[in-house]
Amino acid sequence: MADDSQSTQFQVPKVSREEILQCSFPRWYAQFEKVTPLSFVVELPEDFVKYLLSDDTIRLPGKMYEWRRDQNSDDEDSDPWSDIEDEDDLNEGETAVPKFEELSRKVMKKIRKLGGRCFPKLDWSSPKDASWIALNRTLSCSTFIDICLLLKSSSITTHDLVDPFEYAHPADPGKGDSENQSLKHHLILRKWVEIEPSFEFRCFVNNRKLIGISQRETSQVYSHIAEQKDQIVTDIVSFFSEYIENRFPLRNYAFDVFRTKKDYVRLLDFNPFCQQTDALLFTWQELHGMGAQEAPVFRFSAHGGGIRTGSYQNYALPIDVIRFAHSTNSEKLIDMLHIQDIQRDQQDSTDDDESS
Ligand SMILES: Nc1ncnc2c1ncn2[C@@H]1O[C@H](COP(=O)(O)OP(=O)(O)OP(=O)(O)O)[C@@H](O)[C@H]1O
Ligand SMILES: [Mg+2]
Repeated sequence: MADDSQSTQFQVPKVSREEILQCSFPRWYAQFEKVTPLSFVVELPEDFVKYLLSDDTIRLPGKMYEWRRDQNSDDEDSDPWSDIEDEDDLNEGETAVPKFEELSRKVMKKIRKLGGRCFPKLDWSSPKDASWIALNRTLSCSTFIDICLLLKSSSITTHDLVDPFEYAHPADPGKGDSENQSLKHHLILRKWVEIEPSFEFRCFVNNRKLIGISQRETSQVYSHIAEQKDQIVTDIVSFFSEYIENRFPLRNYAFDVFRTKKDYVRLLDFNPFCQQTDALLFTWQELHGMGAQEAPVFRFSAHGGGIRTGSYQNYALPIDVIRFAHSTNSEKLIDMLHIQDIQRDQQDSTDDDESS
């Protein structure tokens, strides 16, 4: 979440519900697909959203639960992966996690189309606060279970589901609970791209003018940014005027790009012009006060300039770790330790599906 601590007196203006919606991935993707990584949008069924919001720590769909059940079986020949058919088998207070078979199949099909792995997010946010839990410590997902694990562990993506209009005007029509409840949620599967953090920039547009550009990973000094600063600004300005300026409908917004080499800039995301979006090396007060000028202000971290802490350090001690530490239910921990088996199993079954 944005830190506007340098401007404690300044109330960052809220935006309209429509502005927030306009920055949701399904709204903008089709128009910008040529300049952003290939992606698929999958509508989330209500029961899956309910599962994501349910309170139990990290229970994964389908196989996970079945494995736990059969470990308790006395029958040595029993298959530890056989299906549970009867809900009566559950211990008191337990509910089986559905397999979400249709959704799982759909997601796996898209992942294969994306080359076997993807970057997942919901309508606005990625589960970047949860990468600590993934076996590979990144957001790269190869299976539906990988995605469930990240989404179940992320409070940022939960915010997309429960309070996406937190920074919209309170009196805005359509901001009420009932409208939120009828909102459709989507899983976005993006082609995985190796992106060097030093190549990423966030750009701020006020009154349709590109007013500011900030290095995205603010906790590091990258000498090549200082060396190439004029070229970086030139490339981003041309990208903005060629692809964004007259196409994105809002007057005020932020957009994220990465630039891998001279003249090659790609779009990653649009974000609302409000406190929901991290102003990075600017403050929202500054951004609101900056009028149009000839060139955007470019800020990057430099030696001796005071470095901000890592972007996701606030999320270093996740609530689930604390819950595990206090949990009397060792099965949850065992679930975690067997994720790899489940992932392998899911991968195999998709391979079978594809070849049949
Ligand atoms: N397709 C991708 N492949 C690999 N990494 C990606 C991909 N898309 C984004 N990333 C990485 O993940 C980070 C977060 O992605 P993204 O901006 O989509 O998430 P977000 O939740 O909208 O972030 P923010 O809250 O800062 O707006 C990016 O800065 C980039 O480093
Ligand atoms: Mg974003």
